[in-house]
Amino acid sequence: MSELIGMYPTWYVPQIGTAWVMGIIGTIHVLASNTSVGAAVLFAMLESRAVRENKPEIMQYIKKYGMFLLVFSYIWGSVTGPGIWYSVTVASPRGISALIHNFVWAWATEWVFFTVEVIGVYALVYTIGKIDPRTHLKITWTFVISSVATLVLIIGILSFMMWPGSQRWYLTGSVFDAFYNLNFAAQLADRGFLMLTSAAVVGTIIVAAIPKSDPLRRDVGQTVAKLGITGLVGGALSFMWYVATLPPNALVILKDRLPDWFGHVDFRVTTFVPLAATSVLIGLYLLWVYLKPQSVRVPVAVGMVVILLVAGIWPEERTRESLRKPWVVGQYMYSNQVIGRDVPGLGIQDEVPLIAKQGLLKTAAFVPTGLRVITPQNQMEAGRLLAVMSCANCHSINRDGPLRPLPKLLHGTTDVAMIQGFLAGPLAHGSVPYMPKIDLPADEQKALATFLAAVNAGTVDAEGHLIARAVPAAPVHTAVAQAVGAQPIKAKD
Ligand code: HEC
Repeated sequence: MSELIGMYPTWYVPQIGTAWVMGIIGTIHVLASNTSVGAAVLFAMLESRAVRENKPEIMQYIKKYGMFLLVFSYIWGSVTGPGIWYSVTVASPRGISALIHNFVWAWATEWVFFTVEVIGVYALVYTIGKIDPRTHLKITWTFVISSVATLVLIIGILSFMMWPGSQRWYLTGSVFDAFYNLNFAAQLADRGFLMLTSAAVVGTIIVAAIPKSDPLRRDVGQTVAKLGITGLVGGALSFMWYVATLPPNALVILKDRLPDWFGHVDFRVTTFVPLAATSVLIGLYLLWVYLKPQSVRVPVAVGMVVILLVAGIWPEERTRESLRKPWVVGQYMYSNQVIGRDVPGLGIQDEVPLIAKQGLLKTAAFVPTGLRVITPQNQMEAGRLLAVMSCANCHSINRDGPLRPLPKLLHGTTDVAMIQGFLAGPLAHGSVPYMPKIDLPADEQKALATFLAAVNAGTVDAEGHLIARAVPAAPVHTAVAQAVGAQPIKAKD
């Protein structure tokens, strides 16, 4: 019996892949959660002014926005939060297990603060006007502190996913070395600023709902716009800092996404330019709210929130996920969940040499017994399982899939030897900076190449099923066949 590695069964989602399932849920969650943290800061600013300048009418805005948050952030956030847990647990069980093993107490602490945050927002909304203003302000600050604490704790975990940034953590395995990684402060600053912008853009919906004749509209509208613009400028500056803390493999990917005046060579207008355009558009919108708070309408404000979600947060989250490639956690676990380097501090060993020696089908724990040994009969099925286990985390297998579809990247080649050459060359040597070192024994390479070539040829689909091509009935053949008393010629599959 070969040595096994603790890989879980693989969840394969046709077309969009597991990455997009997590991405879609995560993007909605980011909008809901970031808006809530930013709104906490906005509430504290506005309420401090309401108390200082004795303007109780400002509290009406906070109450309306608070109510809106309860419905918007806290319902959507509570649906998508567990949604992230469910989807990542099946999409990347080893990745999430690695994070839990590193950060169990950080996460437990985060949940305590989150509970305080939820109680805080309810208390804040329902006690407005019912208790004295100074006590209320204390509740608001409790909400702010607990919200920001959840942000800080989550960023420690997320930024470790990018990389620890030094050799230290690999040697010590210490949670503090993992948490205070090179990427932590920059990512915290960037997200912290951009949350203010999220909260401001969502906040303009509530500004737009204030009657035009009410002077509160100008008063609050300008504060909201100023906060949002501050967030945008701070976010842009801290993004440059963030880029400076990224690992070299991320810079290779980023190079393809940033224009050359940013300090890199290639000009490929993929993500960065549209993101910058979205930022400018949101900046102009907030400036307009600042100058003409009377003109904002609810549909326009809602439209801006949709733009923020679809053209801001979605590409931003996707880029952040892409930048981490080929790793999923701390540059020791690859996105396909194979461990790709030693972590002496935690007694973790590189699994790539074992897979190269024994094969992935023999080492992964959950492989159907019939596929452990490749035969001419099961070659196609084995090849498909290898593709699902080692490539589908980052690539759609079908041609029209949205996630870096393999048929397109292989230029549709049906040449098995050529594909095998790629698998045995750059992939096996780990010389592609954004792809894991995938070093498989020759029989597995052959099976995988045969499957990928068959997908390209259109003879099997991404599920590994034979595609029966519809051939129009040939009446002449049938007539001739009947005349000679033979079976009609069947169209081949
Ligand atoms: C960790 C994620 C990841 C995994 C796993 C992965 N790839 Fe890739 N692969 C990428 C990225 C990112 C690119 C760059 C795509 C682009 O330029 O749009 C890429 C590009 C490619 C290309 C284009 C050639 C090149 O060098 O850019 C081929 C072919 C390819 N992958 C094949 C595979 C195969 C086959 C597997 C499985 C055995 C696999 N990849 C596994 C991330 C991955």
